[in-house]
Amino acid sequence: MSEAAHLELRAVAKSYEGGRVRALRGIDLAIARGESVAIVGPSGSGKSTLLAVLGTLERPDEGEVLLAGRSVWSRGRDLAAVRALELGFVFQLYNLVPVLSARENVELALQGRVASRAERRRRALAWLERLGLLPRAEARASVLSGGERQRVALARALVNDPPLLLADEPTGALDRASGELLLAELRRTAREHGKTLVLVTHDPAVAAACDRRLRLVDGAFVGENEA
Ligand SMILES: Nc1ncnc2c1ncn2[C@@H]1O[C@H](COP(=O)(O)OP(=O)(O)OP(=O)(O)O)[C@@H](O)[C@H]1O
Ligand SMILES: [Mg+2]
Repeated sequence: MSEAAHLELRAVAKSYEGGRVRALRGIDLAIARGESVAIVGPSGSGKSTLLAVLGTLERPDEGEVLLAGRSVWSRGRDLAAVRALELGFVFQLYNLVPVLSARENVELALQGRVASRAERRRRALAWLERLGLLPRAEARASVLSGGERQRVALARALVNDPPLLLADEPTGALDRASGELLLAELRRTAREHGKTLVLVTHDPAVAAACDRRLRLVDGAFVGENEA
């Protein structure tokens, strides 16, 4: 018997504003464990909505979301635990806590999971160092540049070692060199640790580096591997 997809959507639809905005129209998608998938498409085509549905942050109006073969919206599932243990997010708008330092923002992801404060600090600093941010570790998030914030968000997503990484335009605010560093780190981590990676991007080079490309237009897929 073949293994269940890591993540699967069946006929997923999602509307906003009482149905006036149809963000997703009947999406079917199966992502294998360890696969990297790029979601591309014009602004407003539903990419962030799709990622939010994949990440259990938005509940679809119709259809099913399955993680390792189990419906995530079925009764009795602890969604908070699923999010904390299974998923690493890098949001389009970073969602950092502005008054906390880069290091503290990363440590937040370990709160309640790693008891030792010194260990939380050590792990956070190790990820910040890998992403070239050690010199800015103690700077408040509010003073960091857009690219630095993106890297802090990536460190925060990776520090928990989740099996599934979801990233919304992770290289959007970066210059070419920083973007390549960040993407290389994301893909290296995903490959070496067998992680599944789903990312939204406008960058053809980023999309080309993924195993699979899916193009969304008006909330529906319009072809694969053409981006
Ligand atoms: N919370 C919301 N309430 C109302 N409409 C929404 C909401 N979130 C998204 N939309 C609408 O749904 C559609 C899809 O939005 P989405 O954010 O998924 O697009 P996107 O492909 O990520 O675009 P971009 O590339 O600009 O980030 C858009 O028309 C958007 O205005
Ligand atoms: Mg978006």
